[in-house]
Amino acid sequence: SDPDLVARATAAKAALGDRVFVLGHHYQRDEVIQFADVTGDSFKLAQQAAARPDAEFIVFCGVHFMAESADILTGKDQQVILPDLAAGCSMADMAVLGQVEAAWERFEDLGITGEIVPVTYMNSSADIKGFVGRNKGVVCTSSNAQRALTWSFEQGSKVFFLPDQHLGRNTAVLEMGFDLDDCVLYDPHKPGGGLTDDQLRNARMILWRGHCSVHGRFTLDSVREVRERVPGVNVLVHPECRHEVVRAADQVGSTEYIIKALDAAPAGSAWAVGTELNLVRRLALAHPDKQIMFLDRTVCYCSTMNRIDLPHLVWALEELVAGRVPNVITVDEDTAANARVALDQMLALP
Ligand code: 13P
Ligand code: SF4
Repeated sequence: SDPDLVARATAAKAALGDRVFVLGHHYQRDEVIQFADVTGDSFKLAQQAAARPDAEFIVFCGVHFMAESADILTGKDQQVILPDLAAGCSMADMAVLGQVEAAWERFEDLGITGEIVPVTYMNSSADIKGFVGRNKGVVCTSSNAQRALTWSFEQGSKVFFLPDQHLGRNTAVLEMGFDLDDCVLYDPHKPGGGLTDDQLRNARMILWRGHCSVHGRFTLDSVREVRERVPGVNVLVHPECRHEVVRAADQVGSTEYIIKALDAAPAGSAWAVGTELNLVRRLALAHPDKQIMFLDRTVCYCSTMNRIDLPHLVWALEELVAGRVPNVITVDEDTAANARVALDQMLALP
């Protein structure tokens, strides 16, 4: 990265001292991640957001829904800053509150809301988390989805899972032993979600039709191709991948899980990793004694994670030094109160 920008970021961070706390998601660019005080997956970052109550500013190097969650979980006198406001998440954008409320009304008309526990993946807007909190549900991340579903099925007999169909299906079928037929797909763009009353009555998992376009690029062919090309390779993927890809993989887990699995892997072992490219490249460099490769032959960055680059980070830090507070992410108090219920429920999962 540009040495001048590195020097400016270092100087601005030093000038701010303990007033600033920088969090970085594992998909961030190397040029940014080097300035993070803590790096993590979505779960760890949600936990860590509240770890420094004395820091006035939390600079969140990640995407919008993560910064919103940090705002919900931190004190009123702390401000959360997203260095580029355009760093969203296309999956989170696939569930809009009005659509989710329309689905819930449909379930109400059928008389089944009493049995349904809403569960939302962390990758959702604060108002979706608020909806879930109001309706006695829980947030989950890729590292605790099974525990969240186990808890939910103790509260009710059905789960309405938002917005990632793949995480919902993969967890229910591959971790909890459900049948594929126990899951139905609610399409917000079709009347009634595209489902009959009987389908809704019989389903155990009502999956929202959302997905991650980055992880959606990995296919069964990617797995077959790498297994042919690299005999003995271990295929390790994120649970946002399609069901058939996760089923064909050897291991599945969150970004933090992927890092730990590769740390623990023996020298000389080969790994094809199905997740975002910044992370896979960093892991390959960190483990020269292991053969670590990207699962697909095409490159696949998360374009919105990548929006946070060193120039944006330097700008945000220098604004703070100058006494201005840029790009503050604030969730209104009503929404935050409901969303906090669902987030606290996740943090309290056994
Ligand atoms: P993790 O919680 O595994 O870090 O995943 C977050 C994410 O956005 C994956 O696409
Ligand atoms: Fe969203 Fe996918 Fe990017 Fe994760 S990788 S932030 S789910 S678009």
